[in-house]
Amino acid sequence: MCGIVAYFGKKPAQSVLIEGLKRLEYRGYDSAGVAFLTNNRFSIYKTAGRISNLEDILPAADPEMTVGIGHTRWATHGEPNTVNAHPHLDYTGKIALVHNGIIENYATLKKWLIKEGCPFTSQTDTEVVANLIGYFYERNHTLDGRNAPANCNRFEWAVQQALQEIYGTYGLAILCSDCPGVLIGVKRGSPLILGVGKNEFILASDAAAIVEHTTQAVYLSDNEMVSVSENGFSTKTISNEAVQSELKAIEISLDQIELEGFDHYMQKEIAEQPKAIETCLNGRIDLKNGRVILGGLQNYWRELPRTKKIILTACGTAWHAGLVGEFLFEQLCRIPSEVEYASEFRYRNPVIDEGTLVIAISQSGETADTLAAVELARERGACVLGIVNVVGSSIARLTDAGVYLRVGPEIGVASTKAFTAQTAVLAMLAIELGRRRHLSSDYASSLLRELTQIPQKISRILEQNEHIRQIAQANADKENWLFLGRGFNYPVALEGALKLKEISYIHAEGLPAAEMKHGPIALITDRMPAVFIAPRCSQYEKLIGNIEEVRARGGRTIVIATEGDEDIRTYADHLITVPAAAEQLLPMLTVVPLQLLAYHAAVLRGHDVDKPRNLAKSVTVE
Ligand code: M6R
Repeated sequence: MCGIVAYFGKKPAQSVLIEGLKRLEYRGYDSAGVAFLTNNRFSIYKTAGRISNLEDILPAADPEMTVGIGHTRWATHGEPNTVNAHPHLDYTGKIALVHNGIIENYATLKKWLIKEGCPFTSQTDTEVVANLIGYFYERNHTLDGRNAPANCNRFEWAVQQALQEIYGTYGLAILCSDCPGVLIGVKRGSPLILGVGKNEFILASDAAAIVEHTTQAVYLSDNEMVSVSENGFSTKTISNEAVQSELKAIEISLDQIELEGFDHYMQKEIAEQPKAIETCLNGRIDLKNGRVILGGLQNYWRELPRTKKIILTACGTAWHAGLVGEFLFEQLCRIPSEVEYASEFRYRNPVIDEGTLVIAISQSGETADTLAAVELARERGACVLGIVNVVGSSIARLTDAGVYLRVGPEIGVASTKAFTAQTAVLAMLAIELGRRRHLSSDYASSLLRELTQIPQKISRILEQNEHIRQIAQANADKENWLFLGRGFNYPVALEGALKLKEISYIHAEGLPAAEMKHGPIALITDRMPAVFIAPRCSQYEKLIGNIEEVRARGGRTIVIATEGDEDIRTYADHLITVPAAAEQLLPMLTVVPLQLLAYHAAVLRGHDVDKPRNLAKSVTVE
């Protein structure tokens, strides 16, 4: 959580940092700050609130200030106020740094540093890192009394010494006022990328803050440290071993991260879904033979059909996609499957034996709980696949193999296009795995043909945008909603409820429709809209029964039904239609009206859709 950006070059650092922080604001937005280093002096500006608040307190950009670090925060340790905002200075005032991650042993270190005479001013875990680096820099000897080697760079050495003492995760950008010609970046467990331009370097948590300046970058690995100076950059490990770094092209483009006329990223990303799914499927489907080509898995197809059990693990929306995956693998591959919350999985001592396949699903590829679940699964010897959007992210790198979503950056905190693409990838994976077990070529071909039609069917749903906005308007004042679905649309009910909760702050519950009568039906009144996901499917008649039960008790219904289904009109106070599709693929369609309902409800209630309160896009803390 939190975004960091640092600049080292010839331009005024201020505008690069502020623009970069705006691009990283999705990672956290409760406080922000920047520090510039000129003539061996730091100038630091920090404030609670958004980047726009920070801009308000900044003086005009000084062309002399060409080196700086910046931070946008999602608070973990200490409330989001100015004191706790980054950058943090050490007790000597010589070290300034910004941090993304969590220092797990900060309490012990803090106690020890205070005893050693290093005072603290904030409640953050980050200040421990600053003070520890300052401690080693000042004393110039190791904890067991050995002097720093005579020929070393003392700043680099102090950073390395400090990091040997730290447990936890970090992406750090660090400056030292004695060494204005050096910027240091270090990474463990949190992303850090060095953009390499002409006479300039940008260090950031995400390529979005870099791509405006250069498309060449080094993606740092865990325990790596980069030192930037006028002579270029060098990488080594924090234990001082040399590292050969590789320049790679940044794969995102500027237009992908611009609003391009939309009011919100969420709105843009909902609208992008037809194109996004098309790109996700592109070149991966062989209709003639009913096969799926997934390049990342080509070396695994010998062993995958022998899988005895599949565990899907993820968080939030990705977990809902995982639940669709569970149903797909069971139905199309006849392999026992279960989806697990990543945060629960690792503490349950899960049964992973020979023949267990673990699939981690994550848009960002940085979610700490999912990352920890992947680590555990690997320790237990499972084959671990990743379904990830962000190329080169931690989960993508840690898994044995995987499939990228290819939907471009998702910036809105509420996940939309990632969900539809995750279910598309899971469908492809299940069809190919089923095909290698028992699925006929004809059946696989017919499902794949339907899959290729999903993009234009989503476009048809998007045409109902204004109609859906009006339904949202008629119901946006209701404080409690229910979302009900069966079979493949049960995960969609959960997803619809999550979307509404996180951006409109309306209390919503997603349930299997048949569970209603076991308790929740007691909640039904005409003040509680019940959204039924009821397209034509194998459980259609049963769903009609569930709708009747709600209406008989005075409930108001918003029904998602199949185009042309006239029979269902009488059961709906509000009707939204989706094109017909194979039951297994319906979630990619039925979720779209629910994304729009949530979006419009949030806008109508006056909320900042892309920056919902208390949330951040990637949850990089456990
Ligand atoms: O990046 P990930 O897919 O791993 O993120 C998982 C969840 O944090 C994420 O889906 C979250 O629930 C979204 N805000 C939902 O819209």
